[in-house]
Amino acid sequence: MTNIKQTPKSEPKARQALPASQVQSALLPEQSPKLLQALHLLTRGGDLNADALRKLKQINHLYGLLRPLLEPLWISADGEPDAAPLLVDAGAGNGYLGFVLYELLLGPLGRGELWGVETRSDLVARVRQRANELGFSRMHIAEASVAALQQGQVPELAGRKVEAVVALHACDTATDDALLLGISQQAPVIAVVPCCQAELARLLGGGSAVRTPLGPLWRHPMHRREFGAHLTNVLRGLVLEAHGYQVTVTELTGWEHSLKNEVLLARKVQNRNPLALRQLNDLLDQLPPLPMRLLTELGLVTADGRAPEPTRTEE
Ligand SMILES: C[S@@+](CC[C@H](N)C(=O)[O-])C[C@H]1O[C@@H](n2cnc3c(N)ncnc32)[C@H](O)[C@@H]1O
Repeated sequence: MTNIKQTPKSEPKARQALPASQVQSALLPEQSPKLLQALHLLTRGGDLNADALRKLKQINHLYGLLRPLLEPLWISADGEPDAAPLLVDAGAGNGYLGFVLYELLLGPLGRGELWGVETRSDLVARVRQRANELGFSRMHIAEASVAALQQGQVPELAGRKVEAVVALHACDTATDDALLLGISQQAPVIAVVPCCQAELARLLGGGSAVRTPLGPLWRHPMHRREFGAHLTNVLRGLVLEAHGYQVTVTELTGWEHSLKNEVLLARKVQNRNPLALRQLNDLLDQLPPLPMRLLTELGLVTADGRAPEPTRTEE
């Protein structure tokens, strides 16, 4: 009989650490070990432990996806320097992504600001201190929720135009708050790597809706969680498209690094996209009423999850 709980013969790559002598191989060109040291991603001996390596790989990969989207924001069509961009890192945590974006993009650019938004005061204080120590004078962080920023309640940013919103594993619906922020600001670039997402699994529920033709997709609690997460990201993509964004959905890093591995990259290319709105509405029509906050906030469904009157397809 096959023992399905066999222990792997060798540790998977994600569990491996990098000794100091090999750390350079994990860095991007122009990325400095000094930054990793300041962020405490390196051990005292200069090694990268397994968790730090996994985080660095995620961030560097995301940086590689973001760079071609962000660079056009600050170079005008004739190649001349454009305005100073304001970038927001929603649910910044320890600010790793922001520090990398600053070191490799905003620092060399010499203008623009990066603002993290984070609810935890201990993390906010740590990011502030490190940005200060590193001399990253245009990197800031606000102790606030993403929703508060979107509602104009962060005084330093109230009324200011945001060029890009990024959110790496912002918990649950904080990803949707980041999308709302970007969409309401018509930010040219929005990029999210969603985290755990429980809202739709809860809304789909296990009640009578499971007896509809599509109901078996979420009848079992485990399927409900997975289908709910998948549907959440499908709806997020369609919402972005309906608001004139060109959306790419891709992988962040191999599954051995993180289970939360989907990236939605969005670039504003037009005002609205009626075809995407129709697709969104057609999909919603197949499902039980879903008063998902992202949809209700944007007026795409009513508070009870139904099509707004007279029809949802109206522009
Ligand atoms: C999983 S961590 C990811 C942190 C960081 N982006 C990273 O990838 O390393 C999520 C962070 O989002 C913060 N957070 C959760 N909900 C938030 C909200 N509504 N507004 C702002 N920050 C939030 C949490 O405190 C936490 O630090």
